[in-house]
Amino acid sequence: MLEFIASMIGFVIKASWLMLPAYLANPTAVVFGGGTPVDMGRNWYDGRRILGDGKTFRGLLGGTACGAAAGLIQMQVTSLHYLGTFTVLSVFMLSFGALLGDMIKSFFKRRLGYERGAEFPLVDQLDFVAGAWVMTYLFDPKWFSDNFLESPWIMVTVVLFTPLLHRLTNIIGYYLKLKKEPW
Ligand code: CTP
Ligand code: MG
Repeated sequence: MLEFIASMIGFVIKASWLMLPAYLANPTAVVFGGGTPVDMGRNWYDGRRILGDGKTFRGLLGGTACGAAAGLIQMQVTSLHYLGTFTVLSVFMLSFGALLGDMIKSFFKRRLGYERGAEFPLVDQLDFVAGAWVMTYLFDPKWFSDNFLESPWIMVTVVLFTPLLHRLTNIIGYYLKLKKEPW
């Protein structure tokens, strides 16, 4: 039992290390967000916004920059490289992919008639994981395969652990008055 718990903790630490650039991109987009929306305020054919006011250039750029900066720092911390190593491309794709996944989700939320900020359970919590994985898989397949495909338990851990972490950070963001909703 103790051994099981120890290995679970090990997986969570490794998963968090590998996903850190993606994990940071999301909340820093909230901090930097505001100003011109990525859809420029335009509507889709259904008369609803393409993405909505919740997806802005400042959020996208600020979030990508912060996530990538974290990854570039992680690349220097060689003493922790037993947890996993990065490439410059993987760092940018984790961070940018996370926010791209979040934007694609907003596109579908608007098509389904969800207002900006409405909760879309599970999708809101895993959109950025999907985005980060698809983009690293497409642009740095060797890195993705070495770190995730080779250790599927890390992927399982990410999928199970991320919704908890996401929930927690959003509740914190809500009480710090950074976010309008606690999700
Ligand atoms: N944000 C941003 N640009 C992004 C992502 C997020 O400016 N690319 C900011 C916005 O201020 C947004 C907040 O972060 O309101 C919270 O992000 P999120 O929950 O992803 O957006 P929602 O406002 O909930 O919109 P949606 O319903 O489209 O998910
Ligand atoms: Mg939201």
